[in-house]
Amino acid sequence: LFAGETEFLKGVVAMDGMPPDDRLEVCFAGRSNVGKSSLINALTGRKALARASNTPGRTQEINFFTCADSHYLVDLPGYGFAKAPVKTVEKWQRLLKAYLSGRATLRRAFVLIDSRHGVKEVDEEIMTLLDKSAVTFQVVLTKADKVKEVERLQVIEQVRAKISKHPAAYPELIVTSSEKGWGVDVLRAVIATLV
Ligand code: GTP
Ligand code: MG
Repeated sequence: LFAGETEFLKGVVAMDGMPPDDRLEVCFAGRSNVGKSSLINALTGRKALARASNTPGRTQEINFFTCADSHYLVDLPGYGFAKAPVKTVEKWQRLLKAYLSGRATLRRAFVLIDSRHGVKEVDEEIMTLLDKSAVTFQVVLTKADKVKEVERLQVIEQVRAKISKHPAAYPELIVTSSEKGWGVDVLRAVIATLV
């Protein structure tokens, strides 16, 4: 379903540039720098398929990847702080919201949360938007290699408490490290059941 069969299709900057909605897709949303692009690379086993970098605001378009000719993986620009001009950031944020609330073939949004930081206000805003749009979302904790076991358990508790208030939340979270490959097979298996 993944390895060697995923190709970059296109980067989209406006809703009218979306590829045809002829197949199902899952997307990766989250604050700037949380590790969305890195996770797509880990999932597909391709080191540089999606551009990742330490500069928040690296992904500036909605990037579609065709997977096994059967579905799309969608890498989104981050929300929250980004090293880019305000006007530009506002433009992506509008596009991001239009996408998350208006894409009929979006099967599930993975909302990525940094294991060191937990759920922030901006994450809650996105979760509320997904509730309103009736898009099921599932939290994926990222960068688990950066925290100790005890912190990991704390953040899991915090996330559980937060998502319990969101009707669109899928109750199970997935703990990952793109760096170490942790949880990547679990996420891959979840996607396989969805598309
Ligand atoms: P934007 O496109 O700017 O919104 O960022 P993004 O969410 O796509 O993050 P990206 O994948 O570019 O990763 C940001 C930084 O975090 C990079 O320097 C990555 O190497 C690092 N990173 C991502 N995942 C992990 C992880 O699991 N562990 C560690 N230690 N670092 C990670
Ligand atoms: Mg990115």
